[in-house]
Amino acid sequence: MAFPATRMRRLRRTGLLRGMVRETELTPAHLVLPMFVQLGEDARTPVEAMPGVERLSISHAVEEAGAAHALGIPAVLLFGLPAEKDLQGSGAYDDEGVVQLAVRALKEAHPDLVVMTDVCLCSYTSHGHCGVVTDDGAIDNDVTLELLAKTAISHAGAGADAVAPSDMMDGRVGALRGQLDADGHKDVPIVAYSAKFASAFYGPFREAADSTPAFGDRRSYQMDPANAEEAVREALLDVEEGADVVMVKPALPYLDVIRRVKEATRVPVAAYNVSGEYAMVKAAAAAGYVDERATVLEALTGIRRAGADIVVTYHAKDAAEWLR
Ligand code: PBG
Repeated sequence: MAFPATRMRRLRRTGLLRGMVRETELTPAHLVLPMFVQLGEDARTPVEAMPGVERLSISHAVEEAGAAHALGIPAVLLFGLPAEKDLQGSGAYDDEGVVQLAVRALKEAHPDLVVMTDVCLCSYTSHGHCGVVTDDGAIDNDVTLELLAKTAISHAGAGADAVAPSDMMDGRVGALRGQLDADGHKDVPIVAYSAKFASAFYGPFREAADSTPAFGDRRSYQMDPANAEEAVREALLDVEEGADVVMVKPALPYLDVIRRVKEATRVPVAAYNVSGEYAMVKAAAAAGYVDERATVLEALTGIRRAGADIVVTYHAKDAAEWLR
């Protein structure tokens, strides 16, 4: 029965009707707020390319996380800026490192908040790569695994509720699971950045986390943006190694990948609406070219519709406020 018997507009007539047949829900319960924590007292450092985002010292991070939690956001994802960087990224697995200190403070102030930590070496290494660099400039996968596992254990020991490896080394999920279990953290889930693409959309983040590689790029470990089949394979391998959640990153240029990973796996899927995606909307909104609120809510709904159960986004607090 086509037109005129069928009229699609009948169910679009009023807001209540549209609400009854809406297929995708966007609520703060699905959102994760990424945060950049730095050392020092009472420090807030704006990130130029990400208006509204700041690097926060621990007391400010506690405040910010509390505000997010009060808006109904269940989780934060922490990135740390260490005091010093070295070849081995030792600040990442220092039990008194910035993330470890922040986790303890956050859990003490907000015991119910889910505190997730990014597990990677790039903001801790002097060369800015996500793994240990060999003499000939390559990234040593297997040596890096040990350091990542040490980092995850250290975060879990500080009280992290979940660890999120973002390094893209082969075998890291299995390495983390094994070490976490051996160290008494069998209940700490792994949120794996499974399909992380070598993306230009990470530009603003690298300013925020001070993690731009000093030489070369990340294409020997992060994925080729052209590949979706391979992304599914990455996700399936991570599930096999013990990932509790698999992530696709970035989000908006990879909605098809989110959908395919959702259909191929039976674990919850997260998507990371990254710094460059955020920066584009903020810049366009500041110029008056788009309506920020409508644009953000549409983008986040699109990411959910593609298949993401969890959306990591710098817009989390604004979105949660708008959704109230
Ligand atoms: C670290 C990491 C990056 C992001 C999250 N974890 C940057 C990178 O790989 O260069 C990007 C997040 C964003 O752009 O918002 N490996």
